[in-house]
Amino acid sequence: MHAWQNTLEWGLEHLEMVELPDPPLPGPGQALVQVHAAASNYRDVTTVTNAFPLGRLPQIPLSDCAGEVIAIGVDTIRVGPGDRVCPTFFRDWLTGPPTNENRLKARGSASTPGVLQERLLINAEELVKIPDHLSYVEAATLPCAAVTAWRALVTCARVRAGMTVVVQGTGGVSLFALQFAKLHGATVILTSSSDAKLERGRTLGADHLINYRDCPEWGQRVLEQTGGRGADIVVEVGGAGTINQSLTAARVGGQICIIGVLGGRTQELAMSAIFGRNLHLHGISVGSRDDFEAMNRAIAASGMRPVIDEVVPFHKAPDALHIQRGGTQFGKICIAFN
Ligand SMILES: NC(=O)c1ccc[n+]([C@@H]2O[C@H](COP(=O)([O-])OP(=O)(O)OC[C@H]3O[C@@H](n4cnc5c(N)ncnc54)[C@H](OP(=O)(O)O)[C@@H]3O)[C@@H](O)[C@H]2O)c1
Repeated sequence: MHAWQNTLEWGLEHLEMVELPDPPLPGPGQALVQVHAAASNYRDVTTVTNAFPLGRLPQIPLSDCAGEVIAIGVDTIRVGPGDRVCPTFFRDWLTGPPTNENRLKARGSASTPGVLQERLLINAEELVKIPDHLSYVEAATLPCAAVTAWRALVTCARVRAGMTVVVQGTGGVSLFALQFAKLHGATVILTSSSDAKLERGRTLGADHLINYRDCPEWGQRVLEQTGGRGADIVVEVGGAGTINQSLTAARVGGQICIIGVLGGRTQELAMSAIFGRNLHLHGISVGSRDDFEAMNRAIAASGMRPVIDEVVPFHKAPDALHIQRGGTQFGKICIAFN
């Protein structure tokens, strides 16, 4: 089978397509999945470049894919041949709260091979069935970005009708957050560096738009747009570049879901804003299989579709990561396998 990997050197330019032996037939509790599509995340740009030097070569990148079960082992009952499935992001976080142990094995990292390969041998416990109305390409976007947005907004912050949610930027996690917030009847304030992207966000239901380039003090603008009250929830992906604006934007007793570090990893914090305004900070690391399945039920019931900017063919898979690194996309970038 074919796979993409960094073999001897890290870096996007050193990703190469290789021929690997087909996985063996599935053993007890296992399933063999024919992968039909994958999707990239900002995180994959950092793992391919070994930005946080923990990786081990050779490494197959990417955490997110969707495919069809083509064989199962004895005692495999969770899925059967023909089922359309996605793997979970973490191999071992199936249920309950996060622990050190259940988040050790993240696909596409030093601990666990990624999914940019044509067939995956996998424990059936790590598979989730995908909503019927989604194509494989659409479903491939779910395991990391969508589950992260779901866990942040629904599992942790308990978004509900009438709340105001701030969503930063128009990348993968953020547009899922926008869609889930609207699904729950919330008002959404969307920020972006681009007026054109903001207008596209409006068609997804964003109620208020802020260009964070034109308005660097956008936290204050959120206060104005909420009549001085502030937002109930801020979905924080900008890290150092945005956290102090997020602290300004949140209402007294509001919640900030800390997810990303697109604008840097360390920053001085206005501590008095946190205790003075009784803010709640939720650290998020993707989510569990339970989160994934709850999210899929909501996606199936609502008919929601992921926002996909571009689909590249398998033989050009590194292009997906080049686009991701450039940041021009609106939503997800996917890879179609055949
Ligand atoms: N903790 C977790 O479990 C978890 C899970 C998934 C992702 N993440 C992290 O979350 C972040 C987003 O991931 P992603 O895959 O959704 O990224 P992505 O799709 O690559 O998103 C890129 C978009 O984010 C916006 N952006 C870039 N820099 C920004 C800044 N300084 N302030 C505000 N917005 C900015 C831009 O939107 P505009 O062009 O509209 O301005 C850009 O197009 C990354 O840091 C990623 O590592 C964490």
